[in-house]
Amino acid sequence: DLASLPEQFKAAVDAIRAVVPAELASPKWGIICGSGLSGLASSLESAVHVPYTSIPGFSESTVAGHTSSLAFGFLTAPSSSTRVPVVAALGRFHTYEGHAAAACVFPTRVMKLLGIQALVVTNAAGGLADRFEVGTIMAIHDHLSLPTLTSMNPLIGANLDALGPRFPPLSNAYDLHLRLALFRAAQKLGLSNLLESGTYAYVMGPSYESRADAGFLKKVGADAVGMSTVPEVIAAAHAGVKVLAISLITNKVVLKPYFDFKTALETEQQGGEKLEDSVKRVLQEDVGEAANHEEVLEAGKMRAEDMRRLVAEVVCSTEV
Ligand code: 6GU
Repeated sequence: DLASLPEQFKAAVDAIRAVVPAELASPKWGIICGSGLSGLASSLESAVHVPYTSIPGFSESTVAGHTSSLAFGFLTAPSSSTRVPVVAALGRFHTYEGHAAAACVFPTRVMKLLGIQALVVTNAAGGLADRFEVGTIMAIHDHLSLPTLTSMNPLIGANLDALGPRFPPLSNAYDLHLRLALFRAAQKLGLSNLLESGTYAYVMGPSYESRADAGFLKKVGADAVGMSTVPEVIAAAHAGVKVLAISLITNKVVLKPYFDFKTALETEQQGGEKLEDSVKRVLQEDVGEAANHEEVLEAGKMRAEDMRRLVAEVVCSTEV
């Protein structure tokens, strides 16, 4: 059915098969590594890296902290000697880079055409839920996606019938068996205390959320927020690929109330703190609270090894 897809797909698959040894070129598992989490691939055995620039149809990833290649190799379980061939996308395309949603999911679709049955997607996300701390690992059980609900769905355009149906459901996009395997893996590795479940809100970025944006997303049911993953999940679900999606909470989203001038003024009039001093104090508290890319990469480093072991354990202990 490659023949009934746009030419780019066959060209990409051919380019990959030309350079990857046969024992590695038809993996059942795909992995997409998020910000600061490409270290997953450092542990691949017999790895063959295929740079995005050498694959027809792939765009170039432009974000600091992301490298760009498909890595084919064997993943080894922390708890046994099982080896499983996987393909890992190191670096991904984001809609905020200016790529169309369909371009962002091209690698996902190419992995499907290489034969993957299941896809692990990782990302860095801001925590909205009060129960989350920096370093919490969240199994995504659903998403909330204003971009794809309103205009940025990667499936917009002629349907690729060879991949999946025109109107795919997303009500079970996040595979329950794979989440079961993740919770069992965390238990086995002593990481249960870090693992939570939650709903991921996808935003276009690249700016982080305003306080009102964040308060809105929390109020309508989001537990974490980020700028990726949902396009790939939709393309995978469309193509019948099972998805396990995992967020690393790299920062707590600022949700604190606005400065209340009326109350502060009353306080001052009753002999309390001067308005100027209150403002100065609040501004000092604000320093360091705002989201920034460095803190996201830092938290990624802190949990990179835990994420790697978790993903390896799930992949090596689960039949798909
Ligand atoms: Cl706070 N927001 C978004 N949109 N993406 C993030 C993030 C926050 N933290 C990490 N990635």
